[in-house]
Amino acid sequence: MLKDFLEGKPLRHPVHPLLVHFPIGLFILSLLLDLASLAFPSVPNLVRDSFYAMLVGIITALFAAVPGFVDYTDIRSDHPAKRTATAHMILNLLVVALYGINLGVRSSMLADSKIPLLPLVLSLVGVALLSASGYLGGRLVYDEGISVGRHKRRTPTPEDTLHFSAAHFAQNEQSDVVFIPVPEAERLQEKETLRAEIDGQVIAIAKIDNHFYGFQEFCTHRSGPLSEGSFEGFNVQCPWHNSCFDVRTGKVTNGPAKVDLKTFKMEMRDGKICVRIPPKNRKTNA
Ligand code: FES
Repeated sequence: MLKDFLEGKPLRHPVHPLLVHFPIGLFILSLLLDLASLAFPSVPNLVRDSFYAMLVGIITALFAAVPGFVDYTDIRSDHPAKRTATAHMILNLLVVALYGINLGVRSSMLADSKIPLLPLVLSLVGVALLSASGYLGGRLVYDEGISVGRHKRRTPTPEDTLHFSAAHFAQNEQSDVVFIPVPEAERLQEKETLRAEIDGQVIAIAKIDNHFYGFQEFCTHRSGPLSEGSFEGFNVQCPWHNSCFDVRTGKVTNGPAKVDLKTFKMEMRDGKICVRIPPKNRKTNA
């Protein structure tokens, strides 16, 4: 519940990118006030005002860090964005620590008419690190799709990917089709998904209206993760740019995607839920 709130589900908007505007704006304001104190030393209280802008900046940065950390813990450990997100988090912690030191240094200089060199240099370094961290944050959103659209999903997203090999279940190498049992699907609730990798092919399995549907995990537009998408009727909506696909047929029902999804038939075999892998989707050892 609290996690949903911090991910912005009630707002239908991620919270961390919304809050980071406050510390970024306040730290830059603080630097501008420092520079103004050098250009216009006769204007009163510029150094003091810069101090308070920085103080409020640190407080808002700590607020923004909480939903940011929740978003971080939600990134799959096998996702390439995890490293970028770790670098983004470390840089942000460094920035806050640096501004904390800066605040301590300048706390005895509030009556000065010009900002001294040391706190000014600390502010310049702080803004440089903040810019680098902001660049990484932008990459996480625009390149990696982190926090894009996931707040729309009402049910939990799958944490891990299951791994199978079709060869393990084949009667022999000439078998027409292979049925791979996925007992984990029995635990799915309505509109929940799981993710399975079969010989390098990643498949999302969803439960809708008490039936199971298998379809390719990666969206045909820019490879958004469909196992993290939201469902409307029999449509899965990609969390990245909102393309919709009918999970029964794989047909695109709303762009920007133009290419249909590959689908996989789900069948009950010997009382087990199985995904049907046709021969052209199988790797053989021949
Ligand atoms: S990746 Fe763009 S809509 Fe799916």
